[in-house]
Amino acid sequence: WELFADDVDAILRLKRERNAVILAHNYQTPEIFHGVADIVGDSLALAREATKVDADIIVLAGVYFMAETAKLLNPAKTVLIPDTGAGCSLADSITPADVRLMREAHPGVPVVAYVNTSAAVKAECDICCTSGNAKAIVEGLGVPKVIMLPDQYLARNIAAETTVEIIAWAGQCEVHERFTADDVRELREAYPGVTVLVHPECPPEVVAEADFAGSTAAMANYVGDRRPPRVVLLTECSMSDNVAVHYPDIDFVRPCNLCPHMKRITLANIRQALEQNRHVVTIDPALAERAKNSVERMLAL
Ligand code: 13P
Ligand code: SF4
Repeated sequence: WELFADDVDAILRLKRERNAVILAHNYQTPEIFHGVADIVGDSLALAREATKVDADIIVLAGVYFMAETAKLLNPAKTVLIPDTGAGCSLADSITPADVRLMREAHPGVPVVAYVNTSAAVKAECDICCTSGNAKAIVEGLGVPKVIMLPDQYLARNIAAETTVEIIAWAGQCEVHERFTADDVRELREAYPGVTVLVHPECPPEVVAEADFAGSTAAMANYVGDRRPPRVVLLTECSMSDNVAVHYPDIDFVRPCNLCPHMKRITLANIRQALEQNRHVVTIDPALAERAKNSVERMLAL
């Protein structure tokens, strides 16, 4: 913590001076997550909490689509992202033109966009979802068939849990696609009794081998509620680090994959963001209203 003290102190002071709050995703490093964040959570919690912020400035410690979502919900506030290069392989896998083509190919079928998409893609869709509410959103539409994009694995994992027919896009998360069913089997052999939690962006054969699949918040809740003596969270590396702080009696087995985009956010660039008011997130007004509608429909459902 001594290493971080200077930046942490400066950030805490800047937050007060500038009336700013920091929203941080569960994949942020512990010094951000536990040291300077005001609100932490999964994508759904960050979107929900963004609607309640009364500070003047929101710093989004997460990836770009999360900052865009916060801006959509707070058009009058300044939303800052410390590094504009914090992207996402899912958001990059699909364009607005791709969505229009899918609609043409499947007339009348509603389009559900995972929040891991650009605002421009959200503007072409009917409603958003996150990993925390995907099944509820798909079923809540009350239709026999939906298009769900861009994560093919999330789509297939949800399809396995519902009678709604799901037409998927071909995107995937570069972090979760790397886990294999063999990884899970090898972990069980190497760590007897281990409880295996996975994110639903993992391939279906990985989910099939796991004890539980859920959003990052659902994984944290599972650990808190069930207190497995030994657990592995097959997801981004900081997740276990952040949860393990609360449960010193639980043995966290920690093979994991880093998200290079999440890791672009650091204490140093959060401090610079607040000192220099950068990088201000803006959204083309021509599409902001439609993109916001997709997010708000999700929150309402
Ligand atoms: P959650 O919504 O589950 O936090 O997931 C976000 C994400 O980017 C997972 O890779
Ligand atoms: Fe995107 Fe995957 Fe990184 Fe999440 S972990 S931000 S889905 S690349």
